[in-house]
Amino acid sequence: VTFENILVEIVGSGDRKTGLIRLNRPKQLNALSDPLMDELGRALLAFDADDGIGCIVLTGSERAFAAGADIPTMAPHTFMSAFKSGLISKNWETILQVRKPVIGAVAGFALGGGCELAMMCDFIIAADTARFGQPEIKLGIIPGAGGTQRLPRAVSKSKAMDMLLTARMMDAAEAERAGLVSRVVPADQLMSEALAAAETINGFSGPSTMLIKELVNLAYQGPLTDGVAVERRYFHALFGSDDQREGMDAFLAKRAPSFKHR
Ligand code: HXC
Repeated sequence: VTFENILVEIVGSGDRKTGLIRLNRPKQLNALSDPLMDELGRALLAFDADDGIGCIVLTGSERAFAAGADIPTMAPHTFMSAFKSGLISKNWETILQVRKPVIGAVAGFALGGGCELAMMCDFIIAADTARFGQPEIKLGIIPGAGGTQRLPRAVSKSKAMDMLLTARMMDAAEAERAGLVSRVVPADQLMSEALAAAETINGFSGPSTMLIKELVNLAYQGPLTDGVAVERRYFHALFGSDDQREGMDAFLAKRAPSFKHR
């Protein structure tokens, strides 16, 4: 398959590898057009279905993860055309269907839809050059892919209101302080850091990684009691898996585990 708006590659040395997706519309600072989002969705689902892939890294360029939804194609829309075409819905939700971990590796601008896409990743590793913002208000609109909902959950109500209402950008240090990103590294180490995290995840039992992702998302989205109850059931269920036996036997025998389910 050839893509025009993204670059796709399989990397890693272990028996399970990492699916690397790079947003690639450099002249538009990776503005997220419909064709790009279609391609991204296809690439994500293909990696998710590939047993040789343990997790996915989504990144942009040094200058921009993504500077937002594509403004020239949004500009002419009316309410009716936006509503009827489902502007920002179909191909923006695909990433949420992916069951394997998706790491966002962000350098440069992550603005508007770019910040929203980064927040749909399971966690974000940022370069020290990263800048996050929801500047939609400057265009006379509001976020349309979860920005008003995910940002307050990630950084507190006060910071989210500040960013959404003033359109100011947050730098990488502030984003880490606020909890929007999990780590900040020098820009030239961004990819090695993200791929090393992916490699670590690739070494674990696949069902464990998928369940952790599902359950953390439940914690983030739903009532606490439901999340804890579902967690307990799956915790019990994993005692029926040979990877549990192997993981614990290996610990007790002081050797490295060799997980079977990938
Ligand atoms: C299309 C974009 C773009 C975008 C930048 N470009 N952002 N094209 N859609 N979102 C283009 C510019 O038009 C320009 O093209 C080229 O990329 C380089 O940008 P410059 O502005 O020349 O660069 P710079 O001066 O460094 O400024 C960078 C910037 C600025 C601060 C990121 O480009 C900017 O403010 N962009 C818009 C950011 C934004 O408002 N995002 C939210 C979009 S709304 P030319 O051809 O002139 O060289 C949104 C709604 C989400 O995302 C709804 C749900 C998904």
